[in-house]
Amino acid sequence: MLDILNLDCLEALARERLEPTAYDYMAGGAADEWTLGENRAAFQRIQLLPRMLRGVADRSLATTVLGTPVSMPVLVPPMGFQGLCHGDAEVATARGTAAEDTIYCASTVSNRSLEQIAAASNAAKWFQLYVYRDREITRDLVARATAAGFRALCLTVDTPLAGHRERDRRNSYRMPAHLELGNFPHAHSTQHHEGAGRGSSLAQYINAQWDPGLTWADVEWLRSIARIPVIVKGVMAPADAVLAIEHGASAVIVSNHGGRQLDTVPAPITVLRDVVRAVGGRAEVLVDGGFRRGTDVLKALALGARAVLVGRPILWGLTLDGADGVRAVLRHLREELDLAMALAGCATVDAATPDLIYSMRGTD
Ligand code: LAC
Repeated sequence: MLDILNLDCLEALARERLEPTAYDYMAGGAADEWTLGENRAAFQRIQLLPRMLRGVADRSLATTVLGTPVSMPVLVPPMGFQGLCHGDAEVATARGTAAEDTIYCASTVSNRSLEQIAAASNAAKWFQLYVYRDREITRDLVARATAAGFRALCLTVDTPLAGHRERDRRNSYRMPAHLELGNFPHAHSTQHHEGAGRGSSLAQYINAQWDPGLTWADVEWLRSIARIPVIVKGVMAPADAVLAIEHGASAVIVSNHGGRQLDTVPAPITVLRDVVRAVGGRAEVLVDGGFRRGTDVLKALALGARAVLVGRPILWGLTLDGADGVRAVLRHLREELDLAMALAGCATVDAATPDLIYSMRGTD
């Protein structure tokens, strides 16, 4: 197993192994990368107020998400192109996640097919959906994901167009020729391999293929063709979380896409409390963005999240040691969260209540 001191050290190690353009694609954010940095900085402004003598000898991190038991409130979000990290790509991530008894969400733009990912483990998995201009493509993905046994569809709503990712543009980022888009005919991969002229071929693909005309009515459309729950990923405004529920979503994921879409938006952890209030218990609220520490996870639980999703560190673990590396990252987070809970006086995740948050402003 990888010996992990903390997840920032892990990133530095993985970076040495990766092609610089692949690292930039994964690590980078949009425009000035202000939001990318803010996703981390926001946690550093939140102070915890621990409680003492609550008896924390026997602790459990177990919970459920949409009724599925998980060993801890940390899930693995959709991330595309994992063949950039490791030969086993998403199959390794699915296996490593299953070994730690939590949920993996496969991306539409995986390098392995959703059927291969489904077959990688018996654990509960979700499938992330981008809606294509050609709705037949989306119908087909929904039918395939359902047939393959995915438990929920996670509709990403923050990407009507590709974010302005300057690193990819500067690098004229291309998917390497040895990788394929696992869910699509070869012609889709060719668009990624070649691109049109300079710039990011992914941005060109997104802008050509994904439907920027999507509205809340399409969430209902998706509900009507899906036999599994729909999760809406990428809401930030409390009003949008409410709309998601009104249009049939079973859960929302508060997310700014890892700072890769609209720059200068706040960190998800900053808006979480208001979203939880607006949702008022009608659906589960999950959150991602900048989670690197057990204390980060504890803060999200205290602010009302059912669970969190941890993205880039999983890619670093995958790069360094395949499925075992993914497993090591999840184990490390489990250890950090377990310790944070013990020190804060929480024997269970339900004990992480709002009074654990002393301040969200850093200095008072
Ligand atoms: C990205 C898309 C693929 O963030 O979700 O690169």
